[in-house]
Amino acid sequence: MTSPTADTTVLDLVDPTTFVRNDPHAYWAEIRDRHPVYWHPGGENRPGFWVVSRYADVVAAYADVARLSSARGTVLDVLLRGDDSAGGRMLAVTDRPRHRDLRNVMMRAFSPRVLGGVVEQVHRRAEELIRRVTTVGSFDFAAEVAEHIPMGTICDLLSIPQADRPDLLRWNKSALSSDDAEVDPFAALEARNEILRYLTDLAAHRRARPGDDVVSMIATATVGGRPLPIEDVALNCYSLILGGDESSRVSAICAVKAFADFPDQWRAVRDRDVSIDTAVEEVLRWATPAMHFARTATVDLELGGRQVRAGDIVTLWNLSANFDERQFHRPREFTVARDPNRHVSFGYGPHFCLGAYLGRAELRALLTALVTTVSDIELAGTPQRIYSNFLNGYSTLPVVFSGR
Ligand code: HEM
Repeated sequence: MTSPTADTTVLDLVDPTTFVRNDPHAYWAEIRDRHPVYWHPGGENRPGFWVVSRYADVVAAYADVARLSSARGTVLDVLLRGDDSAGGRMLAVTDRPRHRDLRNVMMRAFSPRVLGGVVEQVHRRAEELIRRVTTVGSFDFAAEVAEHIPMGTICDLLSIPQADRPDLLRWNKSALSSDDAEVDPFAALEARNEILRYLTDLAAHRRARPGDDVVSMIATATVGGRPLPIEDVALNCYSLILGGDESSRVSAICAVKAFADFPDQWRAVRDRDVSIDTAVEEVLRWATPAMHFARTATVDLELGGRQVRAGDIVTLWNLSANFDERQFHRPREFTVARDPNRHVSFGYGPHFCLGAYLGRAELRALLTALVTTVSDIELAGTPQRIYSNFLNGYSTLPVVFSGR
């Protein structure tokens, strides 16, 4: 198998430092042109993997669930370490036919009846947070606003009692800090176990005395004719936190950074020259919160003219597909009026993001609150990039909002 070493400086896509130090867009543009599907070399005790960069190939690979499996894991780091322990139990890392049954159960959590109240609450929360930081001078948008919207929303979705929320938020923060270069991975693992223990107790309680809430819905549903093991109910509730917290947070941070970087685009949104829904899609494309997702080939197959072998890891780079000149006109321009805008930030095909409606609603709430309250958005310092080869974006964003 060949990798593009001869004429391209290959970036190490495993090392998070790569994404902190380099301009990924220049790299991906060259890779899309010259090596649209290439073999990334392995390392010591680490296998190599395929890298898929063009929009059309990424979409085709997402759709090909018959030959590209999610069950060993869908994040490169996890696959390089071994199999995902939640494989076949948690929705995102389950293949058909069980995936379809489990997804039908989980979809009930996202019915209009459940979501109506949650979305109303998102708008209230966003409005209050934005009002609090407008005209206060410089503040960190990540800490003061973005951090509070997604977890509040997921807690509402799961009807987590108010009294339990501070513990859950604290564990979740430690569990996530593995994306920080300095942090002890064992503390993060322990925090994840605390969350799972908490959700297992909650699920058992609600299975015994079901209410009208999402955890009760999943706890009392049957998959393949049987109730889910209680640990799997907890895992799938946790998957809503894993899927919905960081991705929504970084997209909110990216929205505000993009508006500060491109004031004419902010004015177009603020002055209602462009609909908020259209702008939300461009924010999602521009942010591409999940840089990649990964699959494992179950059979030999051809991908973009290359021969992939059964067992190979295949990585699908959303960060490249969303900026592919073959799909998007002037992709490196942030254009809030872009339409159509068929980005892959929520993936594609049978594993398409279950929380897409909610992710969009959170951004819609943020943009609505900004438009009604804020006149100008300016950067007030250098934002800090997230240390990760999976999560794209910034962990801090010093800004100033002036009021309308
Ligand atoms: C801007 C916000 C979000 C982004 C960018 C995002 C992105 C994605 C992507 C790319 C996938 C596909 C993964 C794959 O194909 O392997 C996915 C799946 C998923 N997402 Fe999201 N997501 C967001 C918000 C949410 C929210 C708010 C929730 C839940 C509250 C959520 C829950 C899930 C779940 C459960 C799956 C697995 C679906 C399946 O495998 O059938 N996501 N998400």
